Amino acid sequence: MKKPVVRIGFVGLGGRGQGMLELLLTIPGVEVPAVCDRVPERAQRGEEIVKQSELYSGYEVRSYVDHRELIKNERLDALMICTTWISHARVAIDGMRAGLHTAMEVGGAASVEECWQLVRTSEDTGKFCMILENCCYDRKEMALYKMVKDGLFGEIVHCEGGYRHDLRDEISLGRENIHGRLFNFMHRNGELYPTHQLGPICKLLDVNRGNRMLTICSVASKAAGLNRWNLINKGEDHDLTRYHFAEGDVVTSIIKCAHGETILLNHDCCLPRPYSRDYVIQGTKGIFKEATERELRFALEGVTETTHSYEDFGERLPEFEHPLWKWYQTEGVKAGHGGMDWLVLSAFAEAVKEDAEPPMDVYDTASWMVITALSEQSAAMGGMPVPIPDFTNGEWIDRKPFRRGKFCVNAVCDEFFEGEEEQ
Ligand SMILES: NC(=O)c1ccc[n+]([C@@H]2O[C@H](COP(=O)([O-])OP(=O)(O)OC[C@H]3O[C@@H](n4cnc5c(N)ncnc54)[C@H](O)[C@@H]3O)[C@@H](O)[C@H]2O)c1
Repeated sequence: MKKPVVRIGFVGLGGRGQGMLELLLTIPGVEVPAVCDRVPERAQRGEEIVKQSELYSGYEVRSYVDHRELIKNERLDALMICTTWISHARVAIDGMRAGLHTAMEVGGAASVEECWQLVRTSEDTGKFCMILENCCYDRKEMALYKMVKDGLFGEIVHCEGGYRHDLRDEISLGRENIHGRLFNFMHRNGELYPTHQLGPICKLLDVNRGNRMLTICSVASKAAGLNRWNLINKGEDHDLTRYHFAEGDVVTSIIKCAHGETILLNHDCCLPRPYSRDYVIQGTKGIFKEATERELRFALEGVTETTHSYEDFGERLPEFEHPLWKWYQTEGVKAGHGGMDWLVLSAFAEAVKEDAEPPMDVYDTASWMVITALSEQSAAMGGMPVPIPDFTNGEWIDRKPFRRGKFCVNAVCDEFFEGEEEQ
């Protein structure tokens, strides 16, 4: 039976955590009686955010600096994790072992082993672990998903995606702002942030449900962008100006899937450039291509005038709108990266209330996160292919059916929106 109210503990209150906590508290039926950050002022700030939220009903709220204490002391239904990349999995494993459903912010895995631990802990405890990949809920990604499932691209052959975001200041100011990215770029070399585009691509390609990723090859360029930024902004004598960063400025990875599709991923955060997730979908009937967030193009047989030149996709997107976005626009699109943050949080809250499988499950979480650890291995060997584990242990060829629902990203579930438009 659906729970009308659920109690969610919140761990990690940096910039992202604070924003996500505010948004989570706008969802009816969600209470956050416990917050945690290892920086005490941030934990305190979390408590204030809860008490200042519009739906706050006066329940007791406690703040912690150790997530294990929070888990031990509180009576909760779930845990939401917005810590750093290298701590998400540990906190999630502790949460599931204590009987809590878990959701965690995006980021790559530190090791293949921690991904297996996530899978085994979820299987052993019956508690879910959901990666909060908000890009699966972006308006354009959802419309494209529907177009692919409607057959407009024909058979999908190749996809591309990137995290191309000039983060030179955020990375370089990591010590001042107690931000986790800097140490990763200092010490690691690989596809550090794969899931923003890989998530939507895996859903298109039915990865873990009839398809799977087999191998990855990653090649890293030299590292020069952060040194120049530090030279200009911090001066010649600053340690980061002279530091030999491990992370290549542009890391390019190619993944091969069981049914022959290829996926090209780009990680590119240390050079001046406009933001883009560089989404490309290519099938036997045509192509979609993102140049920047505002320059979206497509050429599809029977849909555009010709396939020999591009037409603007943004203008025509309403023709292909996903039913969730039709509903969302009628309801009023909420804050957070154009609205997708509220949708992914609603999907999590709904799964906790239903005590049921989330739209992105532990197999998605593990197989998307593991790309980071594997790409580090491949880049270290000059691009040698590295096998990608099958976290479903063979079940990808015959998985039990997924749960359909309003927030499903494994199919377009029209039946949950019937009658919505007339209301
Ligand atoms: N989906 C998105 O669009 C999006 C956007 C921004 C950030 N993120 C992700 O959100 C996460 C957080 O990002 P951020 O920018 O706030 O990072 P951050 O490094 O600024 O904040 C992380 C916070 O977690 C705390 N923390 C770390 N380990 C902890 C532990 N074991 N217990 C308690 N607290 C702990 C740190 O003290 C810090 O306050 C990252 O994984 C990031 O990649 C996602």
